[in-house]
Amino acid sequence: MEHIHPVFDQILNRADKERMLGQRGCTLWLTGLSGSGKTTLARHAEKELAAQGFLTQVLDGDNIRTGINNNLGFGEEDRRENIRRIAEVTKLFVQCGVVTMNSFISPSQEMRDMARDIIGPEDFLEVFVDAPLEVCEERDVKGMYKKARAGQIPNFTGISAPYDAPEKPDIHVRTDGRSIEECVKQVIDFVMPRIKV
Ligand code: PPS
Ligand code: MG
Repeated sequence: MEHIHPVFDQILNRADKERMLGQRGCTLWLTGLSGSGKTTLARHAEKELAAQGFLTQVLDGDNIRTGINNNLGFGEEDRRENIRRIAEVTKLFVQCGVVTMNSFISPSQEMRDMARDIIGPEDFLEVFVDAPLEVCEERDVKGMYKKARAGQIPNFTGISAPYDAPEKPDIHVRTDGRSIEECVKQVIDFVMPRIKV
């Protein structure tokens, strides 16, 4: 049988794929309150990494809770299942050498540790996107805090559901009183040595 190219004449492993991409896969797991800046940070970091030739995948509510997890709500069990499935999907990306940026509240340390275990501790970077509740509520980008205060959204993180801040995050990014550029630079500087070959 003829082969198109010798490199495809075998099962490709992670190292082969990382060589093809010229990068190392890993996960930046952004945890923080709603409105803390997770999505913004992930999008800007993706743009910056793309400009430097890195292949990334942003995972957040917009592409996960509308699709694979559209049957899940915001009770504790559903949030845990949300995080579990996301971690399993993320693992597949990382095994392909992709750098993923995951923006999920992931409100408890136990949920974040589960994600770390599934993905693999050596490929998991916990990023605490930190803005005080008052600041997130003041920003109220989606108008959800107002509704939560009015009792229209049950189990709203920070208002009527808990958020356990990470005690030992790999990176702690404070977003209040700082520019997006500053925050993005902090993340990029941290992640660069881990994804460069
Ligand atoms: S979790 O806790 O990790 O499962 O949550 P996540 O998948 O990140 O989803 C959070 C986004 O859903 C919107 N939303 C709520 N957030 C918190 N609590 C309640 N009850 C809730 N209901 C809807 C909210 O817009 C979150 O988006 P972000 O981008 O974090 O603001
Ligand atoms: Mg978001």
